[in-house]
Amino acid sequence: MRRMCFHAYGGPEVLRLEAVPDPDPGPGELLVRTEAIGVTLPCVRAVRGEGQRQPLPGLPGGEIAGRVVAVGPLVTGFAVGDRVTAPGGWYADTTPVPAVLASHIPDDAGSVEAVALVRSGHVALAALDTASISAGESVLITGAASGVGHLAVQLAKIHGAGRVVAAVGSLDKAAFLRELGADDVISYDSGTWGEPVDVVLDAVGGDLLPRAVAALNPGGRLIFFNSGGGSVSAFDLLAGSKTITGMTMARFARTQRHRYDEHHRQLWRLHQAGQLQAAVHAQIPLADAATAHGIIEARTNQGKVVLRP
Ligand SMILES: NC(=O)c1ccc[n+]([C@@H]2O[C@H](COP(=O)([O-])OP(=O)(O)OC[C@H]3O[C@@H](n4cnc5c(N)ncnc54)[C@H](OP(=O)(O)O)[C@@H]3O)[C@@H](O)[C@H]2O)c1
Repeated sequence: MRRMCFHAYGGPEVLRLEAVPDPDPGPGELLVRTEAIGVTLPCVRAVRGEGQRQPLPGLPGGEIAGRVVAVGPLVTGFAVGDRVTAPGGWYADTTPVPAVLASHIPDDAGSVEAVALVRSGHVALAALDTASISAGESVLITGAASGVGHLAVQLAKIHGAGRVVAAVGSLDKAAFLRELGADDVISYDSGTWGEPVDVVLDAVGGDLLPRAVAALNPGGRLIFFNSGGGSVSAFDLLAGSKTITGMTMARFARTQRHRYDEHHRQLWRLHQAGQLQAAVHAQIPLADAATAHGIIEARTNQGKVVLRP
């Protein structure tokens, strides 16, 4: 099998293609011949060695879709030949993935759309669920054109939000986001972020976090689900009776499995009814993973960047 690895932390240039024997799936794992592999900001950051470092040599990855070629011990519900998508897995033509959050791809859907829709859609829905949005509340989404963000814009509208504001690094992304239903599009560096909102879904964090908190109405809620970190004065929360709630999709899936399964059905139902677009910014050969990481680092993607083995 062929897979990408990195022997030093750094930019796209540290990614190397290597040939290794196919692994056997371990307990609870599926071995999948991949057809599409999602590229994500957390993975780009992991290659850079940001945050909690994975040991070297590192194996980038995060979400895949393809066909099951072997089933590990203790796995139920999957068989060789099944078409699945799953969080986890490597940038590889063959990869093990945990079966616990793997799911079947509908017969009439492709692997690329599965990889653009499912994991990112789950993150967006878990963030919306955590925010408990009431009908008509206004929502601002940072990183709104990202794989997660562009689905969150559409799902916020579908879930009854009033004004949806898409915040991005560059207004080049405005037409894309308006097409998806955003009422306003603002760039981070604009002097004002406009009228305050009831909820922020923060996919960026870092230096933007204090501005995102400032953009909230009194009593507003910010859902923090990004890999950018950041800090804010507790007094700023006190003064406006504002809250920040952290959220990871992995924990949401573990602790609210029933909701997670419901979200899963909802994502495919909306997508197949043409009400939820999973935009694909680029499809790039696995061997050119560096090009894919370069797109994310340049912050130019509008929707999901996908690798093809
Ligand atoms: N909590 C969870 O369980 C969970 C799971 C998956 C992903 N996430 C988070 O969701 C967010 C979006 O992830 P994604 O994979 O959907 O993103 P993506 O498709 O890879 O899109 C990347 C976009 O993020 C924005 N961005 C903000 N800061 C950046 C930086 N320092 N470097 C590069 N891009 C940056 C850029 O758009 P702008 O310049 O327009 O901002 C860029 O175009 C990330 O923060 C990620 O950590 C959370």
